[in-house]
Amino acid sequence: MSEPRSRLAVYPGSFDPLTNGHVDIIRRGALLFDRIVIAILVNMDKSPLFSEDERVEIAREVFREDVNVEVETFHGLLVDYAARRGADVIVRGLRAISDFELEMQMALMNRRLSQSIETVFMMPDERYTYLSSRLAKEVFALGGSLHGLVPAVVETRLRQKAGARVPGLQA
Ligand code: PNS
Repeated sequence: MSEPRSRLAVYPGSFDPLTNGHVDIIRRGALLFDRIVIAILVNMDKSPLFSEDERVEIAREVFREDVNVEVETFHGLLVDYAARRGADVIVRGLRAISDFELEMQMALMNRRLSQSIETVFMMPDERYTYLSSRLAKEVFALGGSLHGLVPAVVETRLRQKAGARVPGLQA
């Protein structure tokens, strides 16, 4: 009998910054799949608060003890990246109905582009259903607390950026 195939999932996103909602989905994915790769989009059109290297460093720090979680960057089509990696699953989080329309469009477009990859949606813990990277940045910029909403390393790095008066963080 042949060995069962090892299942590799990719969890793509901007992660600018990583939130506890992302962390929750990644840990759930790591239980379901043999390996899960956090695939950080390098998007030349956007000007992210955290650089590509910073986003990779943050994710590696948060998942340093999770042996089946990897961190990489990608650019171009997600399905091409997934094929290069030999992944057969794309994991996406669904927080609320408002996420559904765009997520459905992306899942069906990815299916049209590649028949061999399946999108799997997972729901985060209800504590994070209203949380997004955009809101986290806004709350921080306006002096609100992000405690419990983002990993400690993200809070620390946000404070460092605020201290260095990085544009996008001053209210
Ligand atoms: O965290 P985000 O910004 O919601 O993630 C969006 C992401 C990275 C999943 C999406 O923009 C993406 O897959 N971009 C890669 C380009 C691509 O493959 N586009 C066509 C299929 S939707």
